[in-house]
Amino acid sequence: MCGIVGYVGKKQSVEVLLEALSRLEYRGYDSAGVAVLNGKGVEIRRKAGKLQGLMESIHKKPVNGHIGIGHTRWATHGEPSERNSHPHTSESGSIAIVHNGIIENYAELKEKLLAKGYKFKSQTDTEIVVHLIAEHAKKLSIEEAFRKTLTQLRGSYAICLVSKDEPDRLYAARFGSPLLVGIGKGEGFFASDAPAILGLTREVMYLNDGDFVVLTASDVKVSTVAGKAVKRKITSIDWDLSAARKDGYDHYMLKEIHEQPAAIEQTLFNRLDLDKNEITFDAKTKKFLNNLSKQERVIIISCGTAYHAGLVGEYMLEEYAHMPVDVDLASEFRYRGPMLDKNTTIIAITQSGETADTLAGIRMAKKHGSKVLAICNVMGSSIAREADAVIYTHAGPEIAVASTKAYTAQVTALILLTLYLTKQRKLVTATKWKSLLKGLHELPKTVEKALATEADVKTLSAKYASLRNFYYLGRRYNFPSALEGALKLKEVCPLIHAEGYAAGEMKHGPISLIHMGWPVVFVATDSPVYEKVVSNIQEVRARRGECIVVASEGNEEIRKNVDSLIHVPKTEELFSPIVVAVPLQFFAYYVACANQCDVDQPPNLAKSVTVE
Ligand code: G6P
Repeated sequence: MCGIVGYVGKKQSVEVLLEALSRLEYRGYDSAGVAVLNGKGVEIRRKAGKLQGLMESIHKKPVNGHIGIGHTRWATHGEPSERNSHPHTSESGSIAIVHNGIIENYAELKEKLLAKGYKFKSQTDTEIVVHLIAEHAKKLSIEEAFRKTLTQLRGSYAICLVSKDEPDRLYAARFGSPLLVGIGKGEGFFASDAPAILGLTREVMYLNDGDFVVLTASDVKVSTVAGKAVKRKITSIDWDLSAARKDGYDHYMLKEIHEQPAAIEQTLFNRLDLDKNEITFDAKTKKFLNNLSKQERVIIISCGTAYHAGLVGEYMLEEYAHMPVDVDLASEFRYRGPMLDKNTTIIAITQSGETADTLAGIRMAKKHGSKVLAICNVMGSSIAREADAVIYTHAGPEIAVASTKAYTAQVTALILLTLYLTKQRKLVTATKWKSLLKGLHELPKTVEKALATEADVKTLSAKYASLRNFYYLGRRYNFPSALEGALKLKEVCPLIHAEGYAAGEMKHGPISLIHMGWPVVFVATDSPVYEKVVSNIQEVRARRGECIVVASEGNEEIRKNVDSLIHVPKTEELFSPIVVAVPLQFFAYYVACANQCDVDQPPNLAKSVTVE
């Protein structure tokens, strides 16, 4: 989604801004721009399309100056075009802003500005903000005018402002969209996402909703919009910059698929203790979990891939920990008026920790007295900060838009959580416990083995890459795997329509489309419903559909029922969604590559969805 950067210091700001923007490219965007104070005024450069285009035009005609703001835009109001790209400027051109989020009352504010004679150059909601600031600045300082404008906005925003009349400072404000301050030696940065400034500084200050910031090269002042000073902690980013590079892989997605054993290892680190024969968490999380009531009801909320992890979580928490669990898409949860009380725990699963619907969902739940546990990848993100306790997945930065390692790390975190609660509730025998812990300990190695499917899956992908419709079917723990497999394919290969279903549902509709050659990916790993899945495979074969089957290693019997077979390592059923995910990710990746798709940044998609 949109990315924001800002710089004030001694360097050529445009170089810093472009470098930072290039690190935000992974979030998905459709145009880019910068505004730099060039000594005479605000110089704007914008371009629709990839950042490369903007870089080339700046290279041909450089922009000089030591303070500026930049933006990558993911269109909400108005098509992706140069005139809709940020920064947007006041009519005189002396103020420029970049904005992430959506101003919900923009139409009403625009009416008022039109009545005052303002002329709009773009179709964006952002442009009203800069005109409002300019209007108030007729009587107030820029800072006061910006503050006053913020009180008139409804919706979500992270906004950065640069003004010709205040050449030593940047202003910014946040409400509902992520924004942080980077602190360097004699320089300061704004960024919507920490990777933007990795390599430029490690010291960051995460902002809260309602924060207003004045940033100069030597100072950061944070206050409320009303002007009351507030203190925000400076934290050090401990990620390595190399984690945000491709390291010889063609795409981040491929690199991240391969990073899964390490990511899972990180999720398990310090939590799975084989010597003590236990699963443990940090003190705060343990306290949270130990205080759950016997009657505790769980609602998992999440979006996209994280929602599929939540569905896997439902199976395991119910089967092992005997807890009643509902799983909701966060965008539905927040508007359906769910029954919430103090005996309800919300588990918010999110890679970025910034997804607008998930964030709104936990805020609503907290208002009703429910507790919130987050399973989150990004430290210091909004959801991590607002939750009562957090299980960090520690999967490292995930750059590709399509989630891979964050998903398997989320499922791993859910396994840890499930097993912790299962033990606490005395619902497991000593022998079973031992074998579960052993399986969990071996999981990184098991996933390593699943990575060995790559060459076969690549060959298989070439065979199916020209097809345009796919079904994915599975049951129980691997029903979510079917949904996730289909989502991966349609995310990274926009030419293809793929749909996941519970295999038992096939005869209630989807089967009507099956005819000769229609590809159906089945997850038929070992499980109590294995034979039922085989019956579903037969039903597809009876209609001459093409069955691509993922089965457990050692199952040779199934060969006679399949057109293509992928073997994955044998595991306990509750671990199987993790190993199954690997070949399905490879399949999506190689089909997309064969179709020359932009794997890491598919059109119209964004990594972190910070608008509703
Ligand atoms: C976007 C991303 C998905 C992700 C979803 C939820 O759609 O492209 O990969 O699963 O948002 O994001 P979150 O950060 O909350 O996990």
